Amino acid sequence: RKFLQFVGRATLITVVGGAGTFYYLAQKERNPGPQLPFDPEKKTVVVLGSGWGATSLLKTIDTADYNVVVISPKNYFLFTPLLPSVAVGTLAPRSIIQPTRYITRHKARTVSVIEAEATDVDPAAKTVTFTDDSEIKGTTSTTTIGYDYLVYAVGAEVQTFNIPGVQKHAVFMKELHDAERMQRAFMDCVETAAFPGQDTAEIERLLHMVVVGGGPTGVELSGELHDFLKDDLMAWYPELAGKVKITLVEALPSVLPMFSKQLIEYTESTFKESKIDILTKTMVKEVKDRSVVLQMPDKSIQEVPCGLVVWAAGNKGRNLTQNLMAKLPAEQTNRRGIAVDDHLRMKGAEDSVFAIGDCSATSYAPTAQVASQQGAYLARVLAQIARKDGMEKQLSHLEQAKQAGVFESEEQKQNIDKEIEGLKNRIAKVKPRPFSYSHQGTLAYIGSEKAIADLPFMNGNIASGGVATYLFWRSAYLSTLFSLRNRTLVATDWLKVKLFGRDVSRE
Ligand code: FAD
Ligand code: NAI
Repeated sequence: RKFLQFVGRATLITVVGGAGTFYYLAQKERNPGPQLPFDPEKKTVVVLGSGWGATSLLKTIDTADYNVVVISPKNYFLFTPLLPSVAVGTLAPRSIIQPTRYITRHKARTVSVIEAEATDVDPAAKTVTFTDDSEIKGTTSTTTIGYDYLVYAVGAEVQTFNIPGVQKHAVFMKELHDAERMQRAFMDCVETAAFPGQDTAEIERLLHMVVVGGGPTGVELSGELHDFLKDDLMAWYPELAGKVKITLVEALPSVLPMFSKQLIEYTESTFKESKIDILTKTMVKEVKDRSVVLQMPDKSIQEVPCGLVVWAAGNKGRNLTQNLMAKLPAEQTNRRGIAVDDHLRMKGAEDSVFAIGDCSATSYAPTAQVASQQGAYLARVLAQIARKDGMEKQLSHLEQAKQAGVFESEEQKQNIDKEIEGLKNRIAKVKPRPFSYSHQGTLAYIGSEKAIADLPFMNGNIASGGVATYLFWRSAYLSTLFSLRNRTLVATDWLKVKLFGRDVSRE
């Protein structure tokens, strides 16, 4: 009995303590304190973008050192790894975004957050021009500001290879509105197939979903689509559910080339069980209103009827990036993006422009992991630069004072010489280390409550796939989410789907 009483009390204390801590942390996130104002004496760091690279930098940067301005057409951070879950209604769109101000309002000094699209960067004049391209505009909607340091983190856009019909007929999977659009289009196909009198061939076409690109985006999306079919469509559209077909098209000989061979095979066999067709060595040549044109492995051309095409065929640089690179033609010759040195300084503008994430051309894959490590690294480098700048200023004051003969006694002169020497030594020691990436592993969800993971271990690699990896995938992403608010929203959405299923209404 005593033992039970003890357990009861311990449980109560844990629950009350946990709830109290949760409430305290939530309130702390929600109620930012006062901030220092902009300081005209400090240098200005302008950050372009509010994605993985920029947000990680903003989280880490010490605003005691700088005035910081963030410019992005989206006033939020998007947690891209969970975007495919939004596309099928597992997660609500707002659960995976974090308003940028929720981060910047917690910094020591005011950070200016501007919702605008940068339209020009002038590395010679050190200026950025930006425009408010939202629906509502004030009397001023374009302006130019100067920077001391520019953190260029605008990411990339969808690569269409100028394949006919892609822009017009396919749905992308890059931004939040893409996922919302896909969910609407998918449900439209289902409802149209359910229209009375629809003939069999048309039902088959409408319910054929083609995903282009066997990279992680295409694979995760196919897996999520399958879950939606199995868990929800079966129940609410029993007459249609068996007729839905998912085809994943990949130009290369296999899907997921970045994963180990056994995980590729595991994904292929899971997809086979889930009745997701994988067409490898098959290239999409055109997307039409009601079909997709494929070049098959034997080079023959086939036109396949379908209701929806989701395009997940990779990235390319933005126009803004290409224009910026064109201003430094001698140094910026890499077609994949901005060439940087090993300190992430843009070649040709090393003194003032840093480029991080998907817009840069490095030896790393364009992933969130790389972008966020680069952002955090850069924040640390900027702190070192600020410290060095401060010491250089102090040195210059002392040297000027010495030259002006301010110090009269021999003792004073000796002390000052010592101090100057000490400062010079300390300045010489401030040498930021080059960026070095620490790979934490690669994870992907493949549907049917299974995930795959390639995790570094000692000097090798552990490859795992299955339900346990899926639980690991969920907990890894839950802990990677940037705030308690997002973690709570995502966990609640998962619970809601477990209890009530996904919403099949079409907005
Ligand atoms: P982004 O995060 O794309 O941010 C770019 C920012 O720049 C955005 O805020 C954008 O609004 C802003 N911007 C655009 N144009 C302008 C402009 N003209 N002026 C100012 N700002 C501008 N990687 C992983 O490591 N793991 C994953 O599980 C994973 N899953 C993914 C799932 C999906 C569906 C997708 C699409 C990608 C996924 N990635 C994943 C890749 C990852 O999202 C990118 O590598 C990462 O977003 C790159 O970060 P970034 O900061 O360079 O760019
Ligand atoms: P990707 O570039 O990795 O894959 C695109 C695929 O589309 C390629 O395999 C390419 O061969 C194929 N393709 C291109 N054109 C085609 C055509 N016309 N017909 C058929 N196939 C065609 O792009 P993805 O998946 O969007 O990933 C982008 C980046 O984001 C990658 O670096 C990836 O590692 C990262 N990412 C990581 C995730 C994870 O770790 N779980 C999830 C999603 C993305």
